[in-house]
Amino acid sequence: MGRGLILGIESSCDETAAAVVERGARMVSSVVASQIATHARYGGVVPELASREHLRAIVPVVRAALAEAQISLSDLDAIGVTSGPGLAGALLVGITYAKALAYASGLPLIAVNHLEGHIHAVLLEERQALGVSSAEDEELNGGDEAALALVVSGGHTHLYLARQTAGIWRYSLVGRTVDDAAGEAYDKVAKLLGLGYPGGPWIDALARFGNPKTVPFAFSQVKTKTHLEGRAPRTKAASTAPIGKLDPRFLFSFSGIKTAVLRYVELHGLRAEAEARYLRLYGEGRAANPPLTKEDALGLCPQGTLDLIASFQHAVVGDLMKKTFRAAEALGTGRILVTGGVAANKELRERFAAEAGRRGMRMAYPTLKLSTDNAAMIAAAAWPRFVAGEFATEGLSADPSLALR
Ligand code: KG4
Ligand code: ZN
Repeated sequence: MGRGLILGIESSCDETAAAVVERGARMVSSVVASQIATHARYGGVVPELASREHLRAIVPVVRAALAEAQISLSDLDAIGVTSGPGLAGALLVGITYAKALAYASGLPLIAVNHLEGHIHAVLLEERQALGVSSAEDEELNGGDEAALALVVSGGHTHLYLARQTAGIWRYSLVGRTVDDAAGEAYDKVAKLLGLGYPGGPWIDALARFGNPKTVPFAFSQVKTKTHLEGRAPRTKAASTAPIGKLDPRFLFSFSGIKTAVLRYVELHGLRAEAEARYLRLYGEGRAANPPLTKEDALGLCPQGTLDLIASFQHAVVGDLMKKTFRAAEALGTGRILVTGGVAANKELRERFAAEAGRRGMRMAYPTLKLSTDNAAMIAAAAWPRFVAGEFATEGLSADPSLALR
């Protein structure tokens, strides 16, 4: 074995990414080509456009990751690629290219679950803080207790108990959303309010200037309807994990709050305002960025709309917290990881950290760069599998609804 360098490749949704990580513990390079500009005008990811953009970006992005790491293919020990869950056509671009590279270079190929990647974004940064060699000692000594991981993104709101035994990480599903993912709710509410895509950063930025106590959005206990039991509901995130016999206290539901915001918008006649805002932001091919100052925020939204946005976010973060801490307590783990695109949210980070502090629990989330999709997390998750010799076969294909175990 060489230096323990793994090239990670990620193309499951709307970012084409490649990165080089050393022994799962040091990020040597990380390149992300975002397709936000392509999808923004449609208010969501258009799968056909995503595949086309991945095809365009994959070769230069991988080259850039190797160049940034100042290495060539022959310096690598393995290639890790996201095999699911995600958009089939998008996943296939990364998988096909990774297979070709592995075949041409004789390097082993490792299939990585995108959700495991998000969890390893946090673990990578923890190991990075320890230093490459001591990180391995720490893990050999079994220094890591089981962690409750909340993966909260545009496609997922899933709670896993992550455990490491003899170097291998295993995951058991503890809770999940029965309908929309939290990020999906952010994106839909932002679209409804005529804001940019993806909606998370917009709502995050605008919520800072609103009063979260204005609209009392409420979450009620999710009831597992008999028709859902043992089966995955029909949503984007769905089939990745059946609800089965999950404890209903750890189930999330975000379609209700989305509908509540829609009703609020209609009741208060905010439609026209939202449409005008959308035209201002995106008319005639313009692109826009979330406002940073109160003045700019008020230039975009009246105070009432800022209050609505702040109330929506406060309710979503509160519900994520309530169920996550409830599950941690029930499972007896004092270690919580929050990861995925929505983990970039400022209010979420602050409130989770404060609550963990109050309860004397360890709490970690990735830096902003590693919260949203990237390939460093894929290369990091591939490392323990490389050490264990868990390689992909030639038949590796995209699995849009791959479950995490
Ligand atoms: O992990 P990610 O990049 O892709 C998926 O695997 O889905 O997550 C993207 C999601 C989007 O729904 C986006 O609106 C949300 O993460 N997001 C945020 C923030 N930044 C991104 N949500 C709330 N606050 C943010 N700052
Ligand atoms: Zn993701």
